[in-house]
Amino acid sequence: MKIAPFGVEQWMNEWEEGAVTNLAETCVDSMTVENLLDISGLRDEIMDQMMKLRLSYGDILGSVELLDSIASMYEHAARGSVIVMNGGSAANFISLYTLIEPGDEVICVYPAYQQLYSIPESFGASVRFLRLRPENGFKADLNELRGMVTNRTKVICINNSNNPTGAIMDHSELEQIVRIADSAGAWLYSDEAYRFMVHDASKQIPSAADIYERGIATCSLSKCFSLAGLRLGWVIGPESFIKEVACRRDYTTISCGRIDDLLGRVAIKNRDRIFSRNLDIVRRCAVILDDWVRSEERIDYVKPEAGTTAFLHYDYDIGSEDFCRRLYRKDGTFLLPGACFGPEFDRYLRIGYAYSPGVLEDGLRLVSGFLRDLDEEAGSKN
Ligand SMILES: Cc1ncc(COP(=O)(O)O)c(C=O)c1O
Repeated sequence: MKIAPFGVEQWMNEWEEGAVTNLAETCVDSMTVENLLDISGLRDEIMDQMMKLRLSYGDILGSVELLDSIASMYEHAARGSVIVMNGGSAANFISLYTLIEPGDEVICVYPAYQQLYSIPESFGASVRFLRLRPENGFKADLNELRGMVTNRTKVICINNSNNPTGAIMDHSELEQIVRIADSAGAWLYSDEAYRFMVHDASKQIPSAADIYERGIATCSLSKCFSLAGLRLGWVIGPESFIKEVACRRDYTTISCGRIDDLLGRVAIKNRDRIFSRNLDIVRRCAVILDDWVRSEERIDYVKPEAGTTAFLHYDYDIGSEDFCRRLYRKDGTFLLPGACFGPEFDRYLRIGYAYSPGVLEDGLRLVSGFLRDLDEEAGSKN
């Protein structure tokens, strides 16, 4: 079975390690084990539990405490509607593997995290894109979606909030999408890796799993919890579907790490503190980014409403891969080319702006320096 190369991940693998100033990072200032234990206020007790942990496979499906604590973050989830995975990426892979049959019709928002369309394509689905357009604030055109859905549509895939654009689908948009999916008997599949990081607290978005009987959601501790190193993600969905996922998981995973399970529980229990730490960083960084975009005449964007990424459009005569390579070679500043999301985005850059305000300020100054080089080159050509 063939699969398209994962544009974003391949670029990250090739360039990230040697970056001096990383503006492609999508996690908020990753926490150390010590940071996490300090936030919990139970450092000694948890260290003691960790030292005594027997490194067996543990509970195959995850500890009951972990499953319950994940379920508690959703309105209608119970232990049986949750399954834990090695990160959101495994959650997406195994649940799409469960859902998709050759010949299925899938509609996926675009741009989006590539797993959501390349995995269904690799299993033989016919995937059509619902374009998210900048002139529409990167929101889905629901009339267009209505026109695309047929009674053969098996799944509508969304990425809420969206990576790369940072746009959100709000409650009322989601309800309309549910009605459209329901009219075709389709599943609504939602990658919600950034859902707990909506910048304006009054705009919280519900999980697809909470508002639709055929809703499936994935999430992980990587982005909103700053704990990508735990490699802990999950799928939430109807219990019968989760049982099918578990059947595939036996072949790929057996169980997740016991230390991940223990520290994951600590993180979820202390999520209010972690989210408030992270949202504070994200909001400060969003202001810095916004000021910078306003100061650069040939850069524009749709202001992100959630998550840690934004899609910057530029008006220079250079392809996005060339742009990022030259920027990187100049002084080690690392940005992600829009072309990684598809050829139509070749005048875009994805910035991961929320690692820390200091990194962002340094990086944007260096990007401005590079833009002046481009201005000069354009001037000397005229
Ligand atoms: C939208 C989205 N989903 C899933 C993932 C997978 O992340 P992880 O496997 O660390 O949870 C990422 C990582 O960048 C992402 O951006």
